[in-house]
Amino acid sequence: MLVIDGKKVPYEEGKTILEIARDNDIHIPTLCAHERLPSFGACRLCLVKVHGTKGFMNSCTTPAKPGMIITTHNLEIKKLRRAIFELILSEHPSSCMMCSQAEHCDKFNSGIMKAGVITGCNTCPNKEICEVRAIADELNFKSIRFPLFYKELPLERNDPFFDRDYNLCIHCGRCVRVCQDIEGEGILVFTKRGHDTKIGTSFEKPHIETNCAFCGACIDVCPTGALSARGQKWYEDPDERVSTTCMLCDKGCHFEVDVKWGRIVALRPDPNYKTVKTGICVKGRFCLPTMLNDTERLRFPRIRKNFKLYPTNWDEAAIRVREILESYPPSKIAIYLSSFLIDEAEYLFSKFADQLEIHNIFRKPEDLKKIKKNGIKILYTTEGLPELKKYKDSLESIIFQEVFPAEGFELADVVLPAAAFTEENGTFTTTQGPMPIEKVVKAPGLALEDWKIIAKISQELDLSGFKYIEAIEIQQEMERVNFKLERPEIDEYYLKYRGTPIAEKVPDFDLLLKYRKDREKPW
Ligand code: SF4
Ligand code: SF4
Ligand code: SF4
Ligand code: FES
Repeated sequence: MLVIDGKKVPYEEGKTILEIARDNDIHIPTLCAHERLPSFGACRLCLVKVHGTKGFMNSCTTPAKPGMIITTHNLEIKKLRRAIFELILSEHPSSCMMCSQAEHCDKFNSGIMKAGVITGCNTCPNKEICEVRAIADELNFKSIRFPLFYKELPLERNDPFFDRDYNLCIHCGRCVRVCQDIEGEGILVFTKRGHDTKIGTSFEKPHIETNCAFCGACIDVCPTGALSARGQKWYEDPDERVSTTCMLCDKGCHFEVDVKWGRIVALRPDPNYKTVKTGICVKGRFCLPTMLNDTERLRFPRIRKNFKLYPTNWDEAAIRVREILESYPPSKIAIYLSSFLIDEAEYLFSKFADQLEIHNIFRKPEDLKKIKKNGIKILYTTEGLPELKKYKDSLESIIFQEVFPAEGFELADVVLPAAAFTEENGTFTTTQGPMPIEKVVKAPGLALEDWKIIAKISQELDLSGFKYIEAIEIQQEMERVNFKLERPEIDEYYLKYRGTPIAEKVPDFDLLLKYRKDREKPW
């Protein structure tokens, strides 16, 4: 047992005073401590009085001991915290926190975060979640007794994804620790000493010239607006925040996605999934919004008439698919299943193929060689394939179900626009097991979830058992029949989403790949 603020709390070996206090709902203000990071003891805001010892101790670095009697709040501690906080703010823009009109300011200045170097809370991309502002409120900060020092550091924008304004940095060291101790990259260090201390890379190289993985973990732990995601920092209050799983590879990282005006505007690791290492990669963290908001997404079904593709509706498209599939025996038909289909779509395609007795199921580009070998005449593909051109003379018809007009689109007889994984509900089995896929935004135009498309076509073909309303019904059926997925793995370093190279849609990613072209693993 130990006593904190007069309350008896259980002792746990290996825990700090701060951890035990938090376990017992006793609040101690902190800035440099972070639940995912080893303690550092930089800011000293968490100081407490341990009775029987001299002075004050950092609760975040002091191991708890049985029998300790601790005071976390009294007038003396409050004064000390105020003084420490004022010192921190003497080197951090603080005018907005002291302004007598601060409470009226937000309603007039809600959209001016596009400032270059940040001079106050109202231009800071972090203002909604700022931990410094929270401490200012807690300590009732209204004035500062120390001379103010503005560092006049230039905004750093010399890499594709970050804006770094070290005028806001409070030297808490969280970014250094997360990069070194959690992500295992060690890109960030304290450069220079004393008054000139600054965070940066070794030799102040641009991040793109280091091994920075652009995972964004440093941004996520920064308590200030010093580090921000360039393309995602302009949006204040999202209309909605939805959690889902990334499907750009098999790791199954969980994201919390911000939605505004029906579009994905920002995302970050989902705080409800506490893994030690976020492990999120640059594709998921920084490329997803640009990629999926792309204006060239397929929006309408199309059918070929007189050598040209014309937009149409789903009924006409389904009739055309039926006519094509009925024009050859099943042995002459092949289905190419993309690894990016959710489990429910994969299952429905397999049920569809079983009922039609289609046995040519392709899963890798090499499988296309069977087109000539098996005399395939009709290919129903769910992914754009550069190799398709080679086989166009052997094929009579191509049914093309995709998110983008990827390679092979121009050869299609019917185009079926599919929803991306942020536009559907379902499950995606990753290396961690089945993960929930949540609909974050509506699919563009008439695009439909892959499972709805194949269900519609199955109904047009009079196949039985394809009337579903929600993906959950398919999931339940998959469990009943004990369906086994055969999807090949998607490597973390795979550079496409379905048939479209990510770099083609995200110029910043293209830049990263070109810059690091000699590396086997570019991030
Ligand atoms: S993005 Fe990731 S790897 Fe790069 S500096 Fe930040 S934490 Fe380190
Ligand atoms: S950049 Fe942010 S996380 Fe890093 S030391 Fe400065 S304030 Fe802390
Ligand atoms: S692509 Fe893979 S590693 Fe990258 S964020 Fe998505 S799931 Fe995570
Ligand atoms: S939170 Fe303990 S020293 Fe910063």
